[in-house]
Amino acid sequence: MVETLTVNLGERSYPIRFGVDLTGEVRGEVAALRAAGRKVAVLTDGNLVRAQGPALTAMFGEAPTLAVEAGEGAKSLTGLGRVLDFLAEQKLDRGGVLFAAGGGVMGDLGGFAAAAWLRGIDFFQVPTTLLAMVDSSVGGKTGINIAAGKNLVGAFHQPRGVFVATGLLATLPAREFAAGMAEVIKYGLLGDPELLAQLERAPLTVASADLAGVVRRCCALKARIVEADERETAKEGGRALLNLGHTFGHAVENAAGYGEYLHGEAVAIGLCAAARLSQKLGALTASDVARVERVVAAHGLPVRLRAPLAFAELHAAMTRDKKVRAGGLRFVVLKRLGEADTRGDIGLESVAESFREVGAA
Ligand code: GLY
Repeated sequence: MVETLTVNLGERSYPIRFGVDLTGEVRGEVAALRAAGRKVAVLTDGNLVRAQGPALTAMFGEAPTLAVEAGEGAKSLTGLGRVLDFLAEQKLDRGGVLFAAGGGVMGDLGGFAAAAWLRGIDFFQVPTTLLAMVDSSVGGKTGINIAAGKNLVGAFHQPRGVFVATGLLATLPAREFAAGMAEVIKYGLLGDPELLAQLERAPLTVASADLAGVVRRCCALKARIVEADERETAKEGGRALLNLGHTFGHAVENAAGYGEYLHGEAVAIGLCAAARLSQKLGALTASDVARVERVVAAHGLPVRLRAPLAFAELHAAMTRDKKVRAGGLRFVVLKRLGEADTRGDIGLESVAESFREVGAA
């Protein structure tokens, strides 16, 4: 059964299609675009070609495909250059369409290349990791990393459609599935206490009967948040709530060196640090913090740094993060488990203590 959720953004609205196998839907979209005289190109990564080669061929046929090396390293100026050169080689004109098939890296990189090529062409997302299905493929944030920080260069560029085929998760390595669960847990913590309770009762696995339902639920929550604050300009709350755990997490990724922690692993540690910070603000109890750590650990994710990182380095990385506004650090904190808020008035010592409690030196 195929279900559709619409992200309502006026003329930039688009459908998210959900199903176990969406080969026919993707193939149909490609055929319709071609029938309309539009060139189609595909960006993917080598791991996906190895794991899902026949599925990619079934979806995209002979469409020209660029398979880049998997990993966060592809989200770089060099990686962007390769994709733009590929689009140039394929002579994609303004009617050209790029499909980004893969995890968050492919979506962010492909989306940004689509935003930049000829000042913007259409693109579709075919997420193949849990993280991309529940988070990065929805909402139009695209971009790359530079030495100064993660996602510092990018654009808001909404896809024309997203195809979430949960059957593709069958070949996802367990570590990658766990990393995606950090974002699922994030949704429970920031706005869906029922989801959180469900995850606490029974950790979600790739074999869970309700996997597709949980993915849809996360996308629905994200869609509503993005509809209300597409460009993250709300003074309080809004889309920034989706950054729960990310100010800490991005600092971990940056200070440890990209690739040392998967994004989701760093976010998992960030969620635990955010819970501890919320406890210092008097909003959470010690038993709430323990619940956060239990649900994170139950999904195979770290609750502490694997090796200490100096707080000075983490702090330097945080100040470079794009979520710093007018020179001040802003954090997403929990008012309770299932409700979050943004705060710009948090003392550095509370941040340092929270970081130390998850293993910073
Ligand atoms: N991943 C956070 C956002 O899309 O706003």
